Amino acid sequence: MSGPNKNYDPVEVTPLHADEVDRTRDEALEAFRAAPDLAALQEAKVAHLGERSPIALANREIGALPPQGRKEAGQRIGSARKAINEAYASRLAVLEAEHEQRMLATEQVDVTLPWPAPQLGARHPLSLISEQIADVFTALGWDVAEGPEVEAEWLNFDALNFQPDHPARQMQDTFFVEPAGSGTVLRTHTSPVQARSMLTRKPPIYVICPGRVFRTDELDATHTPVFHQVEGLVVDEGITLAHLKGTLDHFVVSMFGEGLQARLRPNFFPFTEPSAEVDLLCFVCRGDSVGNPDRPCRTCGSEGWIEWGGCGVVNPRVLQACGIDPERYSGFAFGMGLERTLMFRNGVQDMRDMVEGDVRFSRQFGMEI
Ligand code: DAH
Repeated sequence: MSGPNKNYDPVEVTPLHADEVDRTRDEALEAFRAAPDLAALQEAKVAHLGERSPIALANREIGALPPQGRKEAGQRIGSARKAINEAYASRLAVLEAEHEQRMLATEQVDVTLPWPAPQLGARHPLSLISEQIADVFTALGWDVAEGPEVEAEWLNFDALNFQPDHPARQMQDTFFVEPAGSGTVLRTHTSPVQARSMLTRKPPIYVICPGRVFRTDELDATHTPVFHQVEGLVVDEGITLAHLKGTLDHFVVSMFGEGLQARLRPNFFPFTEPSAEVDLLCFVCRGDSVGNPDRPCRTCGSEGWIEWGGCGVVNPRVLQACGIDPERYSGFAFGMGLERTLMFRNGVQDMRDMVEGDVRFSRQFGMEI
């Protein structure tokens, strides 16, 4: 910048010539008009309206003019700047509108297109059924009890009155935990939770124990080496077989529907005396298929009853082994397999479906929480 003209001499300032100002303005107008997009317009703005643009520099030169020349030059520069600013603003409006149109066109969303729905998981039916069972019994005021899957051999067998040489011990094919003689097994049933409950609680004891158990079976349609059972145990004063039968009937109705009941068939288990098999009145034919070849029942094989589990009055020797006075207390226990229950209750044909973890299998049982 030339600085104020103190001498009032006429000064020739080229950028302020009318022709030059017009040219500067026209160049700017042309640059804005030619800018194809917002980025180019921004560049043109810096070049033609920025601090170092010809028009800005010319504006600064006004001060170098003698006073009588300033007004005219000021007006000329002012109207040129106004024209440039307006040209910029109108081009900006056009380009912004174009940009918006383009965005609307390219970012258009077709809400009718199919979309990749996220796959929802599902709870495993064995989790659902064991919670349903726990609910039936907690509603009666019972506790849910748990025990470890790697269990002391003593609790799995001895405390339950399986003698060391008792053939009953061979009834179950056991996974023994190494080293040999460690006295530790993968529990073969949930019955050791009975012993644990009696050892850690004082009567009255009312517990339900769902859990995972292990036997050396090959995996096939009806066997799996890892499966689930639920165990029930009551120890209180004056408990009889009648309480067991009433409890099982309630359990059956809660799980399979009104009008159904349990049947006890004598059997042997070392930890209960007397012991029985629990059968369930077939919830499909309700016994009508028995001796009725015209109406066969696939669920019970036209037997009328479905084998469900084992039960009995707690053997006084077990009470004693667990520190409970059999003179004062008595109890009952029952246990059943959950995979088997699901098989006949829900028509699952192949146990491997319960093992493989395919969500399509689990989803069929609904999203109950
Ligand atoms: N623990 C037995 C089994 O795995 C089932 C059983 C039978 C449980 C009789 C009981 C019972 O509580 O009283 O075969």
